[in-house]
Amino acid sequence: MVSFKLLALTTLVAASSAQNTTIRYMPFGDSITEIICWRAKLWEKLQTTEWKSVDWVGSGKTENNCKDTKYDRDNEGHSGFLAIDIANKKQLDGWLAKNPADVITMHLGTNDIVQQSKATADIIKAFTTLVGTMRTSNPKMKIIVAQIIPISIGNYNAKIQDLNKAIIPWAQGLNTTDSPIWVVDQFTGFSASSDLRDGVHPNDAGDTKMMNVWYPALTNALAQVKKQKLAEREVEEAAELVERRFVA
Ligand SMILES: *[C@@H]1O[C@H](CO)[C@@H](O)[C@H](O)[C@H]1NC(C)=O
Ligand SMILES: *[C@@H]1O[C@H](CO)[C@@H](O)[C@H](O)[C@H]1NC(C)=O
Repeated sequence: MVSFKLLALTTLVAASSAQNTTIRYMPFGDSITEIICWRAKLWEKLQTTEWKSVDWVGSGKTENNCKDTKYDRDNEGHSGFLAIDIANKKQLDGWLAKNPADVITMHLGTNDIVQQSKATADIIKAFTTLVGTMRTSNPKMKIIVAQIIPISIGNYNAKIQDLNKAIIPWAQGLNTTDSPIWVVDQFTGFSASSDLRDGVHPNDAGDTKMMNVWYPALTNALAQVKKQKLAEREVEEAAELVERRFVA
């Protein structure tokens, strides 16, 4: 006969088998996200904080002559793109499938207004589609949406302000606890006469202003993701408490 001695042993699994807690951030937009230097400035500012190891993600890596060789250039800024086209062509679906994110910033609408005089309501409708895509990709996506900067070419700032005004109630209507939407104001305090290099894109002073508006919203979002990931890891570890039987 074989006698069995049962020994219950609880074992916490090693952290190595827990999920990857690297936080992923995607800067998403048009040329005002692609060919600018606020990303370099924002990355630099994060290097002195606990957020220095955040992984910036996206398919683009354009060098913008930001005189910074170190920064993580990964981004999803697409020069000339309209929010409406990105939504209709489901482009963000593919971009997020390739590079999933925990936090996303969005500065879009300038091309919809300047290139094709799209109606505010149609741009907002596209934003709704894009938020849907973000949440399909990650139900806990933390979303930061910009009220966009003014420009000095043409006569578009009244329309830009119409869009900016519409963004607030739109974001409130779509806000959820798991996937909050924070609106940041990139318009107020940004000078169309002195903060642009070419009438559309920020110069050095404009890049600094934009960086300073993104920064508190981004670090707040990163803190929420960190809290969420730690809570998820605790649940995962609790579930993996194993009971082992030892045969004597
Ligand atoms: C976690 O993900 C990052 C990319 O976001 C990757 O660089 C890193 O190697 C991953 N770590 C592990 C342990 O899988
Ligand atoms: C969405 O909810 C968060 C709290 O979860 C809040 O901080 C944020 O301001 C809300 N967004 C809007 C547009 O009201």
